[in-house]
Amino acid sequence: TYVITDACIDVMDKACLPACPVDCIYEGGRTLYIHPDECIDCGLCETVCPVAAIHADDRLPAELTPWLAVNREFFGPEVTRWGSPGGSDARHRTEQDHPVVAGWPARNK
Ligand code: F3S
Ligand code: F3S
Repeated sequence: TYVITDACIDVMDKACLPACPVDCIYEGGRTLYIHPDECIDCGLCETVCPVAAIHADDRLPAELTPWLAVNREFFGPEVTRWGSPGGSDARHRTEQDHPVVAGWPARNK
């Protein structure tokens, strides 16, 4: 899977959304999340993100490995309980965030 990391927080450029052929990128309040079971590893999202927030899980720098769990847990009982919706749509958009993101210091814009 591919993983969205802290560089997306409060930036949310969203260039990645139309790039994903399976719509497995979902919008939260302060960042977006990739569904680890729906991502087909096409890698297009990584090429379009202007702040390089997206990485393949097997190429994650060591300090970013916690983001693997953040992306996965967003869909589980820890946050949205969405499970695997099979693609983002209007019903799967929320202001909720994973606790790690919710507690992240505000980015100066
Ligand atoms: Fe975030 Fe980059 Fe997508 S900033 S919304 S991961 S294009
Ligand atoms: Fe979509 Fe990126 Fe995976 S474009 S299929 S989330 S690698």
